[in-house]
Amino acid sequence: MVLKRALIFLGPPGAGKGTQAKHIARSCGIPHLSTGDMFRDAVSRGTELGKSVQPIMERGELVPDDLVMKLVEERLSRADCARGFVFDGFPRTLAQASELDHILESRGFGKPLVIDFAVSEPVLLRRLSGRWTCSVGGEIYNIYDAPPRQAGICDLDGGKLVQRADDRPEVVKERLMAYERQTKPLTDYYRRQGVLEMVDGSATVEEVQRALQGILNGARRS
Ligand code: AP5
Ligand code: MG
Repeated sequence: MVLKRALIFLGPPGAGKGTQAKHIARSCGIPHLSTGDMFRDAVSRGTELGKSVQPIMERGELVPDDLVMKLVEERLSRADCARGFVFDGFPRTLAQASELDHILESRGFGKPLVIDFAVSEPVLLRRLSGRWTCSVGGEIYNIYDAPPRQAGICDLDGGKLVQRADDRPEVVKERLMAYERQTKPLTDYYRRQGVLEMVDGSATVEEVQRALQGILNGARRS
């Protein structure tokens, strides 16, 4: 494929952004850029960045824009981003979106293609309570809808499956509030730019995959 274009997966916690971004990245041969995964990696390695963001993430709040933008700029400067990439969980504030517009322009990318995953709150809560993630390769499972073949073990690399610290119900409540207050306004921002597409994120993983493929095919033709 590739669209030399930035893909942005927008949507609330648990909407399926990571699940679908991994699939698109594999099938299109482009990097999957999840700021959440990058921060979790920094936390698990105990870096200075990790130490500063850990308490923020554990409260379910957003990391300050300057730390996010520094991380993103550094990641985009690597060679594998030259042909396109898929952002998952970034941008998350209007300030991040506006800075990203400038960065994309300066790197020769046009407007991004933004896909908003719509999922109702009861479905999000069920998904987050059932999520287990591989501690080695990051593959995402769900005990209700997408269980591993063997409980607690990743099908792909045999890694141990773990639950995220911010998937506790009280933190999920904060994350959903942060989404409503700070991230949801991005849908209007991108709609006004004419680059927003919606998908029904409550459909099955395969149905959402097909819907995304249809949107990408349409974007390639246009
Ligand atoms: P981040 O890691 O980005 O988390 P999030 O946006 O809250 O989203 P999630 O990862 O929880 O959900 P997802 O949409 O990826 O769903 P998934 O595919 O896993 O951010 C974490 C924290 O980092 C933030 O709170 C903040 O502190 C910080 N941060 C990160 N980026 C930042 C930024 N840009 N600015 C500031 N702070 C930032 O799926 C969920 C579950 O559902 C899984 O179990 C999966 O198997 C299942 N599932 C997926 N799709 C389906 C389906 N179609 N049907 C049934 N089950 C499904
Ligand atoms: Mg995710």
